[in-house]
Amino acid sequence: MTQSPNHPISQSPILTYAPTTFSQGRMDFAWEELSEAERAQLYADWEAGRGLIGGHPRHRPGADRLSVWGLNRPFFRVYALDDPRCDNGPRFRAALASDLPLEIEVGYGRGDFLLDRAVRHPQRLFIGYEVKTKATRLALTRVEKLGLENLWLSDDDARVSLPELIPDGRLDAVHVLFPDPWWKEQHKIKRLFAPPFVDLLAAKIRPGGFLHFKSDVEGYGELVRYLVEQHPAFGAHDPALEERIAPHVPTHREHWCQVNGKPVWAFFFPRRELR
Ligand SMILES: C[S@@+](CC[C@H](N)C(=O)[O-])C[C@H]1O[C@@H](n2cnc3c(N)ncnc32)[C@H](O)[C@@H]1O
Repeated sequence: MTQSPNHPISQSPILTYAPTTFSQGRMDFAWEELSEAERAQLYADWEAGRGLIGGHPRHRPGADRLSVWGLNRPFFRVYALDDPRCDNGPRFRAALASDLPLEIEVGYGRGDFLLDRAVRHPQRLFIGYEVKTKATRLALTRVEKLGLENLWLSDDDARVSLPELIPDGRLDAVHVLFPDPWWKEQHKIKRLFAPPFVDLLAAKIRPGGFLHFKSDVEGYGELVRYLVEQHPAFGAHDPALEERIAPHVPTHREHWCQVNGKPVWAFFFPRRELR
């Protein structure tokens, strides 16, 4: 299930899929099962905050204040919820404390998938993380043009913000769509999917919720499947779960794949009830 042409946002100039510099990129992703030593190293890296995009947000100058452009808008940063110049923090906390079902997208890029979901489901709450500040500012403008009141955006690295702000078991769904595979050895540390990230997802997604993952790099999809399915809190990929996000529009990268006839691998992992 992809684009629904009859839906308002599909016809809106807000959803443009304007051409980008996307190219096919590398597809030759090789991976192996983790040894105990590699697994321990990945946990040590995570604990030390290595590989965070832009460094640890706590150490950024003015970490406890929002940029002026973000004041009194549906925007938050993990350590700036108490910025006295605006009411972003209290409003964000109130939204989180509501009993609305909550979905998160990590790395929304242009935001088409997330904006479309928020338009379709006004009775659900959505949070988007995108470390590129410029992309976040553009998406924020689109949130406001669409008059959405159920979508919050952040340019935090989700690996720091999720554990700090989101209560355990609060999430109905997490979407991670076309994340960078980070091929080079020296860049691997930035890769989102590693055992501690899967632990984090297991803690935050409620039993009965699910993780939705897509990639156009087959090997990266296999690695993610290996990491998630070996975690006791997740069940095996279940394609039937796609129903729970139907209908939906593609992300920008997925749209590019569709136009260029490139295959995409989609996975839906149920969060199990643990006894
Ligand atoms: C390859 S792009 C895909 C964008 C979009 N999902 C799509 O399919 O068009 C991956 C995005 O994830 C963002 N990203 C990577 N790591 C992230 C993290 N730890 N937290 C939040 N965003 C992240 C990147 O900045 C980038 O925009």
